[in-house]
Amino acid sequence: MDKILVHGGNGLAGSIKISGSKNSALPILAATLLTREPCTIHRVPDLSDTHYMLQILMHLGAQVERASGTVTVTAEKTDSVAPYDVVRKMRASVCVLGPLLGRCKEATVALPGGCVIGDRPIDLHLKGFEALGAAMRVQGGDVKVFAPKLNGAVINLRGKFGPTVLGTDNVMMAAVLAEGTTVIEGAAAEPEVCDLADFLNKMGAKIEGAGTRRLIIEGVKELHGAEHDIIPDRIEAGTFLVAGAIAGKGVTINRAEPQHLTAITNALTGCGFKIEAKKNSLTVLPNGVAKPLELETEPYPGFPTDMQAQMCALLSTTDGISVVTENVFPQRYMHVAELKRMGANMQLEGSTAVIQGVHRLTGAPVMASDLRASAALVLAGLKAEGITEVSRVYHIDRGYEHLDEKLSELGAHIERVKE
Ligand code: UD1
Repeated sequence: MDKILVHGGNGLAGSIKISGSKNSALPILAATLLTREPCTIHRVPDLSDTHYMLQILMHLGAQVERASGTVTVTAEKTDSVAPYDVVRKMRASVCVLGPLLGRCKEATVALPGGCVIGDRPIDLHLKGFEALGAAMRVQGGDVKVFAPKLNGAVINLRGKFGPTVLGTDNVMMAAVLAEGTTVIEGAAAEPEVCDLADFLNKMGAKIEGAGTRRLIIEGVKELHGAEHDIIPDRIEAGTFLVAGAIAGKGVTINRAEPQHLTAITNALTGCGFKIEAKKNSLTVLPNGVAKPLELETEPYPGFPTDMQAQMCALLSTTDGISVVTENVFPQRYMHVAELKRMGANMQLEGSTAVIQGVHRLTGAPVMASDLRASAALVLAGLKAEGITEVSRVYHIDRGYEHLDEKLSELGAHIERVKE
């Protein structure tokens, strides 16, 4: 297993390019199962999660060709069973349920287990399928959904923690081939949901309202092949903006979508950083002493839960008391104990972290627990005195395309070594 060593203290400067979005690529690749015809997807990031998704598609019988960032999937035939050994590696595998149900009228997928950020249920996905007319059975760790025929329905997908992103994706992917009109109320409005809806519409689906809380889907008889460019990864972009804020002398992210990053740039300007925006790029600049912040994570367009850990790393060295509340995954605080090992002063009170900024962090061996928590530890290491050793780097490789190389391009002293 690899680990990353971050030698703290180098200022970051320069520019990097943002990769295609992981959270768009995964459901879009799954959506290629909805047609027999070839689909070509550009800007698919080179990550272990996208590799797992392609493995699942191949296991189901699809042909996959990959040439750098372009992937062509042809699912002339598809099996409807995705077993545990292919699914267990990635929770997002659950998003093959919707397209398989839509196309085959049945799907069996191993139930995702919990993960460090919480228990991660899929009850809302199943509620949506049921409303479309599917029955379901849980047996031997698998969930099987099946229906002689899918019928459009009015479905409210809002749960106690707000809308569900992959749940909205899944129900939308089943509903595109249902008979009649489906209305999803309480839909997730994340840019990745819009990207999926755009792709499905290119395949011949009739979806309106993407980006709002109400999706209207008029079912069609079949979908055809299509070509699509994945949107830029707003969480990777946000992570590099925070890296620039923590240790930067002027960091620019190119090939980004500034409109998707408003909550993050607002948080950074709230902290006192200067942000310069151009059409597809953003620059973060120091601007005197950084200020503490009160922040709550919320569904889009609010501040993303996927950026909470990285902001905690930044606020750990910002003078004054910051208060961060996690509303989407209330238990998502595995990074707090690790940041404390580096000298951060933070206390958890339920789903709120109270952070008293310290003047210095010190490098330490720390353990990555999930994707974004791992990124937060690398960011903290950029500012810490000495060497921060981040182990379990496979978490980072799940979701960041060449994070260490991109940080090196900006001037960080960072190396990847075998454990
Ligand atoms: C997606 C993202 C993940 C991000 C999350 C929230 C992908 C591959 N992953 O995950 O990076 O952190 O959105 O923006 O796109 N919930 C239920 N029942 C359900 C489904 C969800 O109660 O059936 C709850 C969850 O436990 C959580 C909240 O709803 O508290 C939001 O989860 P959800 O939006 O579904 O997350 P994912 O789509 O799994």
